[in-house]
Amino acid sequence: MIVVNPAPLDTSYVPEKLFFRDDKIAAIQSSILNPSSSGISNNIIIHGASGTGKTSTVKFLMRDNKSIIYENALSFKNIKALLEHLLSRLGRPVSYRGLSFPDIFSILNSIISFRGNTVLVIDEGTSLLKSDTDGLYNLLRAPEIYGTSLSTILISMENPFSYMERKYGTIVELKFNKYSGTEIYKIISERAALSLENGTYNDSILKYISDISAPVGSARFAIELLQKAAYMAEYRLSGSIENDDVRSAVSLINPYITESKLSLLDKKELLVLLSICSLLGDKLSVDMHAVENQVKLTGESYGMTLNRPEIYRVIRKLESLDIISSSLQSRGNRSSVSKHISINDVPVSILSIKIRDIIARI
Ligand SMILES: Nc1ncnc2c1ncn2[C@@H]1O[C@H](COP(=O)(O)OP(=O)(O)OP(=O)(O)O)[C@@H](O)[C@H]1O
Ligand SMILES: [Mg+2]
Repeated sequence: MIVVNPAPLDTSYVPEKLFFRDDKIAAIQSSILNPSSSGISNNIIIHGASGTGKTSTVKFLMRDNKSIIYENALSFKNIKALLEHLLSRLGRPVSYRGLSFPDIFSILNSIISFRGNTVLVIDEGTSLLKSDTDGLYNLLRAPEIYGTSLSTILISMENPFSYMERKYGTIVELKFNKYSGTEIYKIISERAALSLENGTYNDSILKYISDISAPVGSARFAIELLQKAAYMAEYRLSGSIENDDVRSAVSLINPYITESKLSLLDKKELLVLLSICSLLGDKLSVDMHAVENQVKLTGESYGMTLNRPEIYRVIRKLESLDIISSSLQSRGNRSSVSKHISINDVPVSILSIKIRDIIARI
């Protein structure tokens, strides 16, 4: 058993501790929540790439603030439908659809007079922001137009300020940046400690997942990788998560078109790739020197030889097809750098089997 507590690996999990978002929490508090509690309504738009903690930050704040109501825009065709739903959630089911905005806000005003100032969160609002300009106008200016004590927090992946009209009044902008590799590492270390059995993973696995996730900058992506890698290892009846479990997880999330890419390679190119795979069994990356030696060895069993320029040409082709990736790493205390090759999005064990199969056929 590797996963002993599955909940923290679920992407809808709201953690006890939210790392690196203290400034965002403070910004929402000071621009929306504090003013709302003293009767001032403001609006804010939170935007940022997927997995940057937009939803979690708001849900985190909801734990201590009962005035916040959360809705997901994807369930509604427009803002009016969302507000009608809101009225029924707050105890005033509307008997017929198609209320006017003045009707809606007049009912809302009477609810808020008992309930107190309210903060409405509309998550996943990207398409509403583009399509429902009339609804947005009524919602965001409701405090002036209808005297409604309502503040709105809109959440979107895109930055809407470039296309949004000015008629909505002043809106605070809060951008959530992508997480760095180090930040992602901290986030998944916490999740791993909460959910996985001790001794079933090590630091280098967490580091590997963080490195793969860093270009995307998404905590969601990293947590999903950790979860899938853990279940993959359980499925193999292994006692611990290995590098190939992470690669399998990537290939699951990001279905890799291995077959069609491999079909673009000739026998020599397949040989180089096979050599790299055999070196990567327990390593995350290998340097070119090791690749050259391994090509010699593997080549012998297939009766093929490749010289150095040929190997380098193949490496460039494999890179351009995104089958391998490379980075330059310094060689310890010497001041030179060497090229390191890695394969991150497909398990090398499976890739090796496929390559041997193809070489045998051509
Ligand atoms: N700062 C953080 N500390 C701890 N966990 C985090 C942090 N940021 C995000 N997470 C976790 O990452 C996952 C994704 O975060 P969240 O759903 O909040 O992202 P999002 O910005 O709303 O993404 P999307 O745009 O795809 O909805 C969640 O499981 C969340 O708990
Ligand atoms: Mg979200």
